[in-house]
Amino acid sequence: MFRHVLVHVGEHPSLAAGQVWPGLLSPRESAKLAELALLPRRRKWLLGRVAAKRLVRSMVDGPAPADVDISVLNRASGEPYVYIEGRGEWEFAISLSHRSEIGMAAVPKQRELRIGADLETIEPRALALVRQFFTDGEAALVAASGQARDEVVARIWSAKEAVLKLLGLGLRLDTRAIEVSLAGPSFVGCPAGWEPIEAKVLAASTAVDVPSPMHVVWRREGGYVLTVALGV
Ligand SMILES: CC(C)(COP(=O)(O)OP(=O)(O)OC[C@H]1O[C@@H](n2cnc3c(N)ncnc32)[C@H](O)[C@@H]1OP(=O)(O)O)[C@@H](O)C(=O)NCCC(=O)NCCS
Repeated sequence: MFRHVLVHVGEHPSLAAGQVWPGLLSPRESAKLAELALLPRRRKWLLGRVAAKRLVRSMVDGPAPADVDISVLNRASGEPYVYIEGRGEWEFAISLSHRSEIGMAAVPKQRELRIGADLETIEPRALALVRQFFTDGEAALVAASGQARDEVVARIWSAKEAVLKLLGLGLRLDTRAIEVSLAGPSFVGCPAGWEPIEAKVLAASTAVDVPSPMHVVWRREGGYVLTVALGV
C-alpha cells in the first residue's frame, strides 16, 4: 500500500544543529534551507528531507540516485514533490511530517495513489483545541476516553492532518469538515502493524475532490501517533 521512513534527530550530529553535511542537499534545497532562519524549522525541514531521500533512494527503479540529485520541493500549496536530476519529476506522490525530534516520509506503492502522512506527539493538549478544531462527535470521543485522552486527541488530530494533506489543502479546509472515528472497517491490503481508522469528509464540503475509497490507517510508535491516508 505504502512505504514510510522515520528519521530521528540523533542519527546525525548535524541534524540537531540544523546543519547539513556535504552531498546531502541539491542546490535548490540549499537555497531553500538558507531562507530558514530558525533552528526548530531548519531541523524539522531537514528531518523531512533526510527521510524522503532515504525513501526515494530505496524505491526508484535502477541505480539509486545520489542524495544531491534528489530534490524534495514544495508546490505553491505547500504539497511536497520529488524531482530527480536527469530523470525529471518523480511519478510517485510523497507526504512529509515532522516534529522536533523525528521526521517521517511516506510514499504509496502505486503511482496513481494520493497520500497524506502525519506524525503527532502524545502529550496533554488543552480543551480549547478540542473545542476549536474537533466536531461534536470527536469531542464526545475525547470526553469518554478517560486515561487514554492524550492518545485519543493525538489520533483524531493526526487523522485530520493526514486527510488534509492527502486532499492537498492543508488548513484551507475547516478541520471540522473531517470527522474521525477511532476505528474503521478492516479492508484487504491493510498493512501489518497498522489499524484502520475512519475519517469522513462531511457533505458540506462537497467542493473538495475526495477519493473513494479513502483508506486511513494509524499506529502508535513510542510517544508518537503515525497516520497515513491513501486514495486515488
Ligand atoms: C499541511 C498542514 C496540515 C501541516 O501540518 P503541521 O502539523 O503544521 O506540520 P507537519 O510537519 O505534519 O507537515 C508539514 C509538511 O506538510 C506538507 N504540506 C504543507 N502544505 C501541504 C498541503 N497543502 N498539502 C499537502 N501537504 C502539505 C509539507 O511537506 C510540510 O513539510 P515541509 O514544509 O518540510 O515540506 C498545515 O496546513 C498546517 O498548517 N497545520 C497547522 C496545524 C493545526 O493547526 N492543525 C489543527 C488540526 S486539528
